[in-house]
Amino acid sequence: MKDEIGIGIVGFGTVGSGAATILFRNAELIARRVGSSLRVKRIVDRDVTSDRGLALPEGVLGTDLQALMQDASIDIVVELVGGCEVAKRIMLDAIDAGKHVVTANKALLATHGEEVFAAAHRAGVDVGFEASVGGGIPIIQSLTGGLAANRCVSLVGILNGTSNYILTRMKCEGQDFQEALAHAQAAGYAEADPAFDIEGVDAAHKLAIMVSLAYGTPVTMQDIYTEGIQRLTALDIRYASELGMTVKLLGVAKHHGESIEARVHPTMIDSTAPLARVDGVYNAIHVVGDAVGDVMLYGQGAGSLPTGSAVVSDVMDIARNVRQGVRGRVPPTSFHMDCRTPVRIRPMEAVTARYYLRCMVPDQPGVLSRIAGILGDHAIGIASVLQQARREGQTVPVVIMTHRASERAVQTALRTINGLASLVSEPVTLIRVEDQEP
Ligand code: HSE
Repeated sequence: MKDEIGIGIVGFGTVGSGAATILFRNAELIARRVGSSLRVKRIVDRDVTSDRGLALPEGVLGTDLQALMQDASIDIVVELVGGCEVAKRIMLDAIDAGKHVVTANKALLATHGEEVFAAAHRAGVDVGFEASVGGGIPIIQSLTGGLAANRCVSLVGILNGTSNYILTRMKCEGQDFQEALAHAQAAGYAEADPAFDIEGVDAAHKLAIMVSLAYGTPVTMQDIYTEGIQRLTALDIRYASELGMTVKLLGVAKHHGESIEARVHPTMIDSTAPLARVDGVYNAIHVVGDAVGDVMLYGQGAGSLPTGSAVVSDVMDIARNVRQGVRGRVPPTSFHMDCRTPVRIRPMEAVTARYYLRCMVPDQPGVLSRIAGILGDHAIGIASVLQQARREGQTVPVVIMTHRASERAVQTALRTINGLASLVSEPVTLIRVEDQEP
């Protein structure tokens, strides 16, 4: 049994300093839980002068990555530099050096996860990535452990805190998108370049990781239809409220036997659904298992200590294995590496949903019936229509809620409607409605 397990951390930013703080602050508790001490031997970062609010023992913080890789007393390397190429190199170098690895890097895993997992499998080392999805929410261990006895019927989640914060402000303060984004940046939630957050890419990275674990299939980013929140308007958020609905950026995965749906887009859900009540930067994931039924996980999807908590939980998990002299007990793919079967991801056009359509139309007799006619031609049934009071000489918003229809039919109908300048003054706004909520 090893009495002491050595840890090396690469990247001493927000998450790195959170993980290090927990490892030092809760060292005694962690040692009692693991049965061995976890000793932070080296932390490597380019910046060794900024104050992270944490006093490190002399000689721990430095810039020499090679020294960390060659340090035989380091059992586990924690990669927290972000980005893809450099992070991948660090992971693969650590694996080559026979070290176990932990990362919070969802972009890396969603795009190069298969390569990293295969290298770890060959080298016989463990990979932990709890912090890659949902910050401090233990969703990865839930999928690989607590829920492992279940066929996953569906996974629906609010997976990006920044966009959820923006949508919450748009709903609760009536702000438009740009104003809410500026608030998110001022509050330090959104990056100066918030593209991955608001365009749905960050949420898609996280959904790809979850789908791969839940269904035992490799997933590429091209498999996941991705649409962000950047085109949502205050008007649509208001209409949603009038309809008793709330707009959330959801990652949705559903199992259909031979295929899986996997998509990220703004979605209207009933305002009484649990996910509709997840506000601000919080994340939540609703899993339905065939045996367990509904499970909801809720918590802080980002931030130094919440994400650090997930990183340290992986370090502890691996340290327990190191202590017992076992490895590869839980494969990083959740399914045994030799027992994965690729599952087809349904193309978006084959997905069906109900739809919210907002058409800006001239207030003239016959316009609505022409739009209804085009929808009818594509077998799209109308469930309800909302029309604003008349404004002389201006276009008015007409909101149509459809019955369930196929994405292919709706997109084809909208191409026709959008092409008729006499019918709409701007492209029709479409928001999908998810009604499988608990
Ligand atoms: N940028 C992410 C979010 C944080 O806003 O949720 C960590 O994944």
